[in-house]
Amino acid sequence: MSLSRPDVHSYARAGEPRVRHASLDLTVDFDRRVLSGSVALDLEPVPEATAVTLDTRRLQVHAVEDGHGAALSHHLGPEDPILGAPLVVALSEGTTRLVVRYETAPDAPALQWLDAAQTDGGTHPFLFTQGHAIQTRSYLPIQDSPAVRITYEARVRVPPGLVALMSAEQLGPAEDGAFEFRMREPIPPYLVALAVGAIARREVGPRTAVYAEPAMIERAAYELAEMEAMIDAAEALQGPYPFERFDVLVMPRSFPYGGMENPRLVFASPSLIVGDRSLTSVIVHELAHGWAGNLVTNATWSDFWINEGTTVYLETRLHEVLFGVERASLARRWGALELEREIRDMGLTSPDTRLSVDLSNRDPAEGVTIVPYLKGAALFYALEAGMGRPRLDAFLRDWFRRRAFQSVTSAEIVAAMRAAVEAAGVGASIDFQSWVYEPGLPPDYPVPTSALLERVEAAAHALSAGAPASSFDPSGWPPQALRHFLGRLLAASVPAATVDALREACHFGDSQNPEVLLPWLRLEIRSGNTGALPRIERFLRDQGRARYLKPLYSDLARSTWGAEPARRIYRAARPRYHALVRAGLDKLLGE
Ligand code: BES
Ligand code: ZN
Repeated sequence: MSLSRPDVHSYARAGEPRVRHASLDLTVDFDRRVLSGSVALDLEPVPEATAVTLDTRRLQVHAVEDGHGAALSHHLGPEDPILGAPLVVALSEGTTRLVVRYETAPDAPALQWLDAAQTDGGTHPFLFTQGHAIQTRSYLPIQDSPAVRITYEARVRVPPGLVALMSAEQLGPAEDGAFEFRMREPIPPYLVALAVGAIARREVGPRTAVYAEPAMIERAAYELAEMEAMIDAAEALQGPYPFERFDVLVMPRSFPYGGMENPRLVFASPSLIVGDRSLTSVIVHELAHGWAGNLVTNATWSDFWINEGTTVYLETRLHEVLFGVERASLARRWGALELEREIRDMGLTSPDTRLSVDLSNRDPAEGVTIVPYLKGAALFYALEAGMGRPRLDAFLRDWFRRRAFQSVTSAEIVAAMRAAVEAAGVGASIDFQSWVYEPGLPPDYPVPTSALLERVEAAAHALSAGAPASSFDPSGWPPQALRHFLGRLLAASVPAATVDALREACHFGDSQNPEVLLPWLRLEIRSGNTGALPRIERFLRDQGRARYLKPLYSDLARSTWGAEPARRIYRAARPRYHALVRAGLDKLLGE
């Protein structure tokens, strides 16, 4: 009998028993760069089942046993470059527990191993996992699909002096010094996460703590001191917070994302720690995932917009409460402009501009665009305009309550949205077919407005038209406004003289804020100012986020003078970058 695979990114088969719980017992070996040990997997009982298929990637499987230690016959299939290898285990009648003894490969895609020299402190090594989207299988043999939900527990042994943290409740240290964890809420495998290093902790609220390397902990605790207020605002909009605690681990510089919503323990880029709390919207975004993503999860990676679009919508709603309406409207309007630009760049008929996308034969973490984020959020703006906020808010709260701890498809959320607009008597207001399954932007696309953005645009326009730099006063502008201002000058290809005047008047090169520095350094490159090279080099060496590195390397490499320095800087910085980021930059820089 051939059983279908409901998720193209997993070897898991419909009809086979699903894993319900995983008990990990792992030792972290920094010298060999491997995790080794075992995982016990509890399966749902399926009486007629004769086999179960797990996802693995570059794992060495030493043995597979049942719950009583009896060997089970198993077979590891060929390794696919994207999916890894299926591990098929024959089940004897009544087997509901498997124990897999295994170790990871030194180049396991989920694991980044940092030497002591690659950390802030410089004295202890660091390890972190990134499971989202399909990397968890490279350190945990499991049905690695977001349609599967597991609870888990773990014992993790680490070298003396190091701390282990997971996306789970921490139990007291075991007698042998191992760290112990338990996650009682069922979560998809991509949300299992581990970090090991010399890590300090500061309590910042009743349900919130900040973790970071000791050298960073004070600044991190100051930056993120307002997290309890964020949870309060989110609960008022979305319903009770599902995971009890909301802690944040500020990562080493090579962390490839702004943030990653690991439950109970968000991983955050150190680039957010700028000293004035101006970039904490990323934390608000990861908090909103506590409901949109972690509680109600996209069933496959084609439905990724359900996680990200809902989250971005909630994020802008929380902006209103936390940062004020002006910043919230700026975020919405800016998002709309970025979305329009991205869709134009990708092509109005590009299939990847659909919300529901076909990702077969592709790694869902590669080439992520802003479309699922911003077109997804725009669909919620359309719902808001159609049925009004009170009804939309009730819809969202009800959705999170009814579908709690479930995974949902695009068709399912569309059916629920359709029912809600029909109940509100505005059923015809939204063309869901076009929003979700067709490329480009639908004609009823609502355009948000922002008075602040208009002031920014007027200033950028005046400057591009020749007004003196001294006439322009950005005091009081949040970095998000400055970023847009500089982005506009970049798009207008202002002459080098304007960039020179702006450098004199505003000293953007001294900014500590990467959201401002990135567009400024891009302007410096365009204007041909080789004097900015040391600042550019420092930025490229300090940052690890793909979203910052790609545009800057690409501008530099394509400029008339920067190709050689780009390659030189990349060669020196590359060992510290995350494998996901290296893959993209290798292509760009021809390594
Ligand atoms: N879950 C994502 C990060 C992610 C995306 C991991 C795709 C793997 C594949 C996270 O919530 C996110 O969206 N991060 C953004 C921050 C944000 C405020 C838009 C980022 O890192 O830029
Ligand atoms: Zn997100």
